[in-house]
Amino acid sequence: MPASVASILLDHYRRTARRLPWRSPPGEPPPDPYRVWLSEIMLQQTTVAAVTPRFERFVERWPTVDALAAASDDDILGEWAGLGYYARARNLIACARLVAARGGFPDDEAGLRALPGVGPYTAAAIAGIAFGRDSAPIDTNVERVVARLHALTEKPEVRAAAQAMVPRGAAGDFAQAMMDLGATICRPRDPLCAACPLEAHCAARALGRPEDFPARKLRAERPRRHGIAYWHRRDGAIFLVRRPGRGLLGGMAALPGPDWELAAPPPASLASVRHVFTHFALDLHLVASDSAPSAEGWWQPLDGIAAAGLPTLYRKAVAAALRAESGAAPDNPPAMLESGLSAP
Ligand code: ADE
Repeated sequence: MPASVASILLDHYRRTARRLPWRSPPGEPPPDPYRVWLSEIMLQQTTVAAVTPRFERFVERWPTVDALAAASDDDILGEWAGLGYYARARNLIACARLVAARGGFPDDEAGLRALPGVGPYTAAAIAGIAFGRDSAPIDTNVERVVARLHALTEKPEVRAAAQAMVPRGAAGDFAQAMMDLGATICRPRDPLCAACPLEAHCAARALGRPEDFPARKLRAERPRRHGIAYWHRRDGAIFLVRRPGRGLLGGMAALPGPDWELAAPPPASLASVRHVFTHFALDLHLVASDSAPSAEGWWQPLDGIAAAGLPTLYRKAVAAALRAESGAAPDNPPAMLESGLSAP
């Protein structure tokens, strides 16, 4: 890799870097490791647009890792509600407490890797961005940029090429320059090659088929499962439970109901919502119940439902049940509810 490619990209980054609340401007001293770590955990499965306002709320409420470590699990899980992948939030809590107890973040990749919820990519990102280490965080965006630049299809080759590109002493800016390029120009579909500072150096562009790199993986269709959530209503309140600490939506507030193991929908329900998890799609059917709740839980006033910290699945379910109760036409069939209700 000619040194010029890294320097062209860094120049481009200096002019065009996205201003994001966890970043330092290009060329300036690195940002607070707490903010870098928190942003990288939030960004693991969630877009920059969705993370940005949530990150700002989080650091306003808990400005330091010590403050976060001292917060209760319920408060943190409630603040995380809607961001999904709740194992991340549980690891975040464990990691904050461990870091606070040891007096700060480790400053190299090996030390960072040992923290809960911090894998090779995240460790490399924090080491480069917060501690100026010469690391190469390689996520799918970076893989795509490098695969195209060199017209490579094999993962190990792409990783080796990405590693070789890192400019000594500027790894943090370089990593974020690659992330920005992958997010805004070298997009999976319809890359904006004419706007790309690396166009003249790009092998896939020269071949006239940038979208063929990296080789596409075929994704198997997700299996579908059905589940039941009981809708207990008393005056202006509904009955909620806390899910077990481990497993999907672990530790989060929820409507009561058995595991989501049904192969088919129940014969009658008040409403249904569809929600897509990584490995399966769930149709959750709301069944109205007049009997006393058998699980341990609490009555949550509906006018204070936002404070319950319900994850997206259950926010959608509550909205659908209320709509059905009010006699509104079921104008939102389950498929349309998939992404219909907004996050808090
Ligand atoms: N995705 C993961 N880390 C990121 C960062 N630091 N900036 C923008 N997008 C990212």
